[in-house]
Amino acid sequence: MDKQTHFGFKTVDESEKAGKVAEVFHSVAQKYDVMNDLMSGGLHRVWKHFTLTTSGVRAGDKVLDIAGGTGDLARGWAKRVGKSGEVWLTDINSSMLTVGRDRLLDEGLILPVSLADAEKLPFPDNYFNAVSVAFGLRNMTHKDAALKEMCRVLKPGGKLFVLEFSKVWKPLSPFYDFYSFKALPVMGKLVAGDADSYQYLAESIRMHPDQETLKQMMLDAGFGRVDYHNMTGGVVALHKGVKF
Ligand SMILES: C[S@@+](CC[C@H](N)C(=O)[O-])C[C@H]1O[C@@H](n2cnc3c(N)ncnc32)[C@H](O)[C@@H]1O
Repeated sequence: MDKQTHFGFKTVDESEKAGKVAEVFHSVAQKYDVMNDLMSGGLHRVWKHFTLTTSGVRAGDKVLDIAGGTGDLARGWAKRVGKSGEVWLTDINSSMLTVGRDRLLDEGLILPVSLADAEKLPFPDNYFNAVSVAFGLRNMTHKDAALKEMCRVLKPGGKLFVLEFSKVWKPLSPFYDFYSFKALPVMGKLVAGDADSYQYLAESIRMHPDQETLKQMMLDAGFGRVDYHNMTGGVVALHKGVKF
């Protein structure tokens, strides 16, 4: 029998999860950006800005954005590394990647784009100065394999940035639960015509490893100097690690 994993609160065969995640992102791609602003009250921009500005990424660096979707981080990296640098926008989902590529082109940014599964990255060893994954790790079936791949493609001394929903500060959780399970699916239905995908979002956040567990997973994958910074009371955490 196939090994089991989570798809939100449901238990599914490991072989089924990627297909189910793909359905979610094919469905929401066109409304993804407007929903992000609406659901987070614009806060996702602050979380991403913090990731970019505290990264230490410099002109000339090579950066890989994994699960890059509609391109927010890739755009930010491109501004930081300048013309002498290299930024790849990658994602496993063609709908998300198409929206991202078109949006960057409309802004006059031509970046290399690749349809890529984080668990099997099509890049050589020791190539990038930095790798980022924002709100993507949660959706991956084999997070340990994906983290190892991220480590493989980084140069020694290169940094990984994982921006992801995490465990909220306990006093906030009744409000956060109400918002996630009652309001989000309704907003999803009204704006994106899809309540189920936003129900999955709320559930997948609850099933994702908490701050300390993810830190340990990064250490296990081969990263050193792993640490994290909570934002908005732990709604989101930015984990950083260095490849030695
Ligand atoms: C919530 S979106 C995040 C998009 C973008 N990084 C952002 O912060 O707005 C999650 C993305 O993860 C992608 N994804 C899920 N599993 C993946 C995998 N195994 N490899 C690469 N991307 C994956 C999805 O296709 C989707 O575009």
